[in-house]
Amino acid sequence: MSVHTADKTKITTVHLKKMKDNGEKICVLTAYDYTTARIIDGAGIEVVIVGDSASNTMIGNPTTLSITLEQMIHYAKAVVNGTKRALVIADMPFGTVCGNPLKSLDAAIRMMQETGADAIKVEGGAEIREDIKKIIDAGIPIMAHLGLMPQSINKYGTYGVRGKDKEEAKKLMEDCLLMEELGVFGILLEKIPASLAAQISAKISIPTIGIGAGSATDGQVLVIQDVMGMNKDFSPKFLRRYADLHTIMTGATQSYISDVKAGSFPNEDESY
Ligand code: KIV
Repeated sequence: MSVHTADKTKITTVHLKKMKDNGEKICVLTAYDYTTARIIDGAGIEVVIVGDSASNTMIGNPTTLSITLEQMIHYAKAVVNGTKRALVIADMPFGTVCGNPLKSLDAAIRMMQETGADAIKVEGGAEIREDIKKIIDAGIPIMAHLGLMPQSINKYGTYGVRGKDKEEAKKLMEDCLLMEELGVFGILLEKIPASLAAQISAKISIPTIGIGAGSATDGQVLVIQDVMGMNKDFSPKFLRRYADLHTIMTGATQSYISDVKAGSFPNEDESY
């Protein structure tokens, strides 16, 4: 089965597996609000992740650690409201899935029930295997997030590339195989060597979605503000900007200011 933009059928985790099997790349973007979700869903994006990067992009926090479950539910609900076709995956924030399966299940149920998301994303590997099992057993689809896990920044001390040494690469491969065995429907691989991402993607039968993980993953994801060029301060090697909204929005704001100052907005046609 091929998933085309013209086909308005709601995308499911089953579609993503078929896309991998057919060699069709999976296109993923983040979103955190209704309007953006409507635009990218209408444009044909296949998966929308409501990332905990909302902590940075929407709230301006320095890390993803400070965003709460309540805040993530707020953003995820807005994205679900704006999405008809894409699969919506809501990120579980820091501390909600961390070694207490019953507590993790409660948080995952809240996320699904209060937002209407199709699935959740969880950072972590073998350390949270029991939580993953519990949540999947309850019928909640999970995308695992491995490689660079921003919620563990205080452990790493850096946002650098992960899995570069043999030991870490081995653990990463093992975690991916374990996650597949536990029944996650996909794995997001962040900032790892392209060759390692290629090996993982070939070895497991579920889709891999990469960010800074080279071209061999089954799909790609980027943060919407980065893709649209809204943030001039963030230019990692893996980022390709597809628009320059920073310049466009700055220019539009300045034009608006000068029109209001000059008294030329609103004109007669724009008045009642
Ligand atoms: O939080 C986030 O935006 C992410 C992206 C890598 C999808 O995890």
